[in-house]
Amino acid sequence: MIKYRYEEISQEIALNITEGRLKPGHKLPSVRQLKQQYRAGLSTIQKAYELLIIMGLVESIPKSGYYVTLGKGDNNEIGFAKPSQARLRDELFKNNLEAITSNTDPLLRHRLNEFNVATPDDTFIPQKMILRNMQQVIREQGTKILRYYPSNGSEPLKDHITKRAALNHANFDAEGLIITDGALQAFYIAMAAVTSPGDAVAIESPCVFSMLQVLRTLRLKVVEIPVLDPDGFDLDFLEESLKTIPIKAIALTPNFHNPTGSLMSDENKWRLLQIAKAKDIPILENDVYGDLNFTDHRPGNISSMDDTGLVMTFSSYSKTLASGIRLGWLFTGRFFKVAEQIKFALGSTVSPVYQETMLKILATTSYERHIRTFRMKLASQCYQTMELISTHFPEKMLVSTPKGGYSIWLKMDKGMDMVKFHERCEDIGVRFTPGHTFSFSNAFDQYFRVVFAIKYTEQSLDVLKQAGQFAGKR
Ligand SMILES: Cc1ncc(COP(=O)(O)O)c(C=O)c1O
Repeated sequence: MIKYRYEEISQEIALNITEGRLKPGHKLPSVRQLKQQYRAGLSTIQKAYELLIIMGLVESIPKSGYYVTLGKGDNNEIGFAKPSQARLRDELFKNNLEAITSNTDPLLRHRLNEFNVATPDDTFIPQKMILRNMQQVIREQGTKILRYYPSNGSEPLKDHITKRAALNHANFDAEGLIITDGALQAFYIAMAAVTSPGDAVAIESPCVFSMLQVLRTLRLKVVEIPVLDPDGFDLDFLEESLKTIPIKAIALTPNFHNPTGSLMSDENKWRLLQIAKAKDIPILENDVYGDLNFTDHRPGNISSMDDTGLVMTFSSYSKTLASGIRLGWLFTGRFFKVAEQIKFALGSTVSPVYQETMLKILATTSYERHIRTFRMKLASQCYQTMELISTHFPEKMLVSTPKGGYSIWLKMDKGMDMVKFHERCEDIGVRFTPGHTFSFSNAFDQYFRVVFAIKYTEQSLDVLKQAGQFAGKR
């Protein structure tokens, strides 16, 4: 793809920031200085800075200049609740599911600004494009879509998914791919394929509650590995844990982890693969947010570095198109046979309507076009939210700096009564996801997640401000 000059300049600055050469809070050169440095025009430099602002890497302070974005407090502490040693946990997932799935009175729901739902809201779903393709499928296919499809999924669809993955250097073969009912089912199948009840598995901490629920259902014990900002999964902690605990699988979201939005570097992906290979431990790689990068570089997968079949990668279209399209996929590596049996036991076939609709969408450029605008919108809303948080929430907070995906992870100081905070938020008409739902150990009581994938209106921004002001007042 041809790159504009301003994109090249912003990319160079972005690299200096993401690789730590320019630290948070660092004052960046003025537009005039950069103009001279790059021998570029004024508008080129301005555009480069605008792009960096959209990516959330730089902020502009009126009458002062451009600065590397600053998270509140010490950003490097965002893994925060780092346990002093690995512990095996099999505690019950106390009331957490209830906290997430409890039904809200429809009237209340109507006036709630739900910053807690990790799916594209109605305005971000490309409704016309999806429905047009779905209607064509129904018209063209007739009774064909009313029958069982092959249990592992439609072959042409698998071909399209592998071809698209190859553009990101992933070397999946279509025979090793299984079409699933979303990413969560793919995770269930992969985990069930390589573990037995009572086994210990390494997971990220914080970890999204739906994945925790799968682990609980499979009766697994977990070792919670801290996710640090900005590097993600803490590999030193994993290595320490492996000295004493026989870990049977490692599950993580290296690209834009939910809730922190962190991105694991290629070096760390490689290092993790070497650790896993040395002990022959399967890696389950969740790539459900991988397409939602804020910079122009779509990160790669651990499976593309692997030639042994030890890595299983999975994803879905729930986060990029619409969560109601129940369609995901699992690359099974060397575990195809057992994964195939588990998939079959879970109910033969994913709805042919969804499979044919996705096939139609992927056969054109519709998906790519949608993703390009959607991820830039998310980047800009992420920046807007970070700015709002830094202006209206209390000083003493830790805030993650997402590199992509949907959400920001925040920690309030100990003095904040979080029950009161969430109650007050409901009164104002805003809802966040409480931190305690992201761990079996309830280690994240002072934390909460803000999802920025809803359409921002004056009212939603106003209630966000009010929540911050309430937190600051107590
Ligand atoms: C990290 C992660 N994995 C999986 C899922 C579930 O995806 P799906 O709807 O495709 O099952 C979610 C949704 O919240 C998620 O955040």
